[in-house]
Amino acid sequence: MVFMAGGVADAVKTDDSLYDELYDVKTEALETGNYIEVDPYPLMKAAQERGAVQKGFLREVLGLPFWHRHRAVVEGGGERLQGYCVLTFAKAEEAFRDNARLSNKIYKMTPGDEKFLGILEMDNPEHFAHRKAAQSLFIKPRAVGLWRDRWINGIVEAIVEKLKSQDRAELNMDLCARVPVHTISVAVGLRGEEALIFRKALISTLSSRGGPESQMAAAATVARMVTEQIELRRKSPGEDIISWLLAAEVDIPGEGSRHLTDGEIITFCRLLLLAGGGTTWRQMGILLFALLDQRDRWEAVRADRKLLEPAIQESMRWNPNNPMFSRLAVEDTEIGGVAIPKGSVVDICLASANRDPSRWDNPDEFDLFRKMQPHIGFGMGAHMCMGRNVAESEMFVALDALMNEFPNMRIDPDQPAPFLTGGLEQRGISSMHVLLK
Ligand code: HEM
Repeated sequence: MVFMAGGVADAVKTDDSLYDELYDVKTEALETGNYIEVDPYPLMKAAQERGAVQKGFLREVLGLPFWHRHRAVVEGGGERLQGYCVLTFAKAEEAFRDNARLSNKIYKMTPGDEKFLGILEMDNPEHFAHRKAAQSLFIKPRAVGLWRDRWINGIVEAIVEKLKSQDRAELNMDLCARVPVHTISVAVGLRGEEALIFRKALISTLSSRGGPESQMAAAATVARMVTEQIELRRKSPGEDIISWLLAAEVDIPGEGSRHLTDGEIITFCRLLLLAGGGTTWRQMGILLFALLDQRDRWEAVRADRKLLEPAIQESMRWNPNNPMFSRLAVEDTEIGGVAIPKGSVVDICLASANRDPSRWDNPDEFDLFRKMQPHIGFGMGAHMCMGRNVAESEMFVALDALMNEFPNMRIDPDQPAPFLTGGLEQRGISSMHVLLK
């Protein structure tokens, strides 16, 4: 395979106004309709003390205004489906692992969205076969080899090089937003300058703001951009995700082995950018916030880089940027002694599971030195995040480079102080103004 250089330096060139439009956590939540004013953690703690599994959607149990990621929850048959929520680590793990009864079909319950999120909305055996076809691109040796060498290192270097000429920066926009969107776009084979156009089109396909016509136009833009790459890579394969997927085979029991269709490749690329773009942007901001808000943590990690990996994992435990995910009960079941009838929605609260006091001492504290044990910030079971190694690599390379170049970096006292904000379903930082030198 011939590697086609991917224009990583474009990570610092693209139109800033599009960044402003696409990368503000509060605006994103307001536009999605799920913004909450309050810190949800005290509410989760109180709810967890009342019971590991409870009847009611998570927002209802926490006393927050009703909103659900999945429109079909309220629009399905004209009336709201029944909801349950899971709040402790052990029960969240149990729910995530029971994919036979608690299904990812929840993701395709919005009419018209069939096959929109690829493997995320599949159950077995289809899910296993499709995930297997792509999985080896995301294993740790590739995330720290191929992904870092080909894409992440160059993108981070270009960003840091630009920052070197500045005294101040707003790292939410200047770094956190840029690294993931450029990594995935360039890995897919797009040119760096196309990354934001791709993300904007992708987000418009999910937003009902511009009406169905604008959604269809955006979907067509996404499909066209990926199709162009498919045609190019079919003629001349490179080391990129599309060339990989063109060569991959999917083997569904009873159907035999076959290559992925162009439609399946488009859907997978769309999922990668959706699943990997927003999450890593917000999580990198949360990590920076944790380290700079109490600067002795920054100093500790800077002095001993072996602490960087634990810092990344602790940020995911302490404040996972997606605090909840849901499942659909496709059979009558039971979790923690609570009967859950077929057809109900189960909200699994990763955020409260990650602060379960039976698993972690002082769970509300961000503690660099705590005994590390698996958290649930990347999910669990069959659908556990496929891109986690890539996300960890992006955060590692970015933070490592910042610590090397800007050892004195600190929060800018003359700018608005950063804080955590967003919805219950996705959280991140308000901004991250820093003095670099
Ligand atoms: C800090 C960043 C990230 C977080 C917190 C995160 C979290 C998650 C979680 C919780 C799930 C499971 C959802 C469910 O069970 O319903 C998931 C699935 C997934 N993620 Fe990530 N993710 C991150 C970054 C990424 C990146 C960078 C990529 C791609 C390069 C990616 C690709 C995927 C894919 C493809 C799935 C679907 C897996 C499946 O259904 O089998 N994620 N992610």
